[in-house]
Amino acid sequence: EKGGFEHFMLKEIHEQPKAYRDTMRGRIDASGKHVVLPELKLNSEQIKNIRNVQIVACGTAYHAGLVGRSVIEQLVKIPVETDVASEYRYRSPIITPETLVIVVSQSGETTDTLAALREAQSHGAHVLAITNVVGSSIARDADDVITTLAGPEIAVASTKAYTSQLIAFYLLGLYLAEVRGTQTPEQIAHIIAAMQALPEQVEKMLSQADAIKDFAEQISKHEDLFFIGRGLDYAVAQEGSLKLKEISYIHSEAYPAGELKHGTLALIEDEIPVIALATQESVLEKTVSNIKEVKARGAEVMAITFEEHVAGLLKSVDQAFAIITHIVP
Ligand code: BG6
Repeated sequence: EKGGFEHFMLKEIHEQPKAYRDTMRGRIDASGKHVVLPELKLNSEQIKNIRNVQIVACGTAYHAGLVGRSVIEQLVKIPVETDVASEYRYRSPIITPETLVIVVSQSGETTDTLAALREAQSHGAHVLAITNVVGSSIARDADDVITTLAGPEIAVASTKAYTSQLIAFYLLGLYLAEVRGTQTPEQIAHIIAAMQALPEQVEKMLSQADAIKDFAEQISKHEDLFFIGRGLDYAVAQEGSLKLKEISYIHSEAYPAGELKHGTLALIEDEIPVIALATQESVLEKTVSNIKEVKARGAEVMAITFEEHVAGLLKSVDQAFAIITHIVP
């Protein structure tokens, strides 16, 4: 049942390419230029009237919502907030009938997320659920559902469901962007092509698992570790940090790379591992200067970046790991 893998988590990590393909299947038209979401009840008029978006979720799904915020703000140009579901109800959020509330839940059964959904509906908001379980409580009660087709996730630590939630956010963001005219057809086609290239890239990434294992062995001797990044890299760093804590019981913190100097830089001491995510071109130089700050304090830095930046970054870091990307022309 574990498909030859030692753990369900490992099996599910390797199921990501399939989960992406299944989640995208039927939601991108044959021309590769449009996202189609026939399941949505939300009509064009309602979409044009959306004034703000609130994303509400728990745990890993919340981290997906942090990425979702960037995706929707950038593609659709609507203000987006992301809240932890257990906090949402108690902060008196401004919810109106022009608010689109997106709840994200792998299981579709998380009590706080369900309560947030009901709170939003009681204020007249349209609630769209991104969930992995058809027929779950959240899927039943939401006004709209985008199902991630990641297949059953057995491991407690979410992997393929998280990345499939990101795919769902991009599909939704592109769909809303087309209806509201906030992206050109070329920009939309470009992102779709990049998404379609993903499953194969992830397959290649997974084939490098041994190199990652070597690094994991080095950090396993430590008790504390930092993840740093800016923008989307920071959102992903938060999920990376949670995963490390859940699985290895090694304490770690995710910090926005530029914020470290305003607080805990003093905790960076000799040889403390720092995983620096540097995949955001627009802030790459700034991230590199933050990397230099932690290096100056003796940290052992492992950078995750694009292939073309590996050589450059190796001047400032101890190790650099390339994510495989395919720049769509
Ligand atoms: C927590 C789990 O209880 O619920 C997390 O420990 C999970 O791993 C979170 O991310 C949210 O779950 P769901 O099913 O709503 O996505």
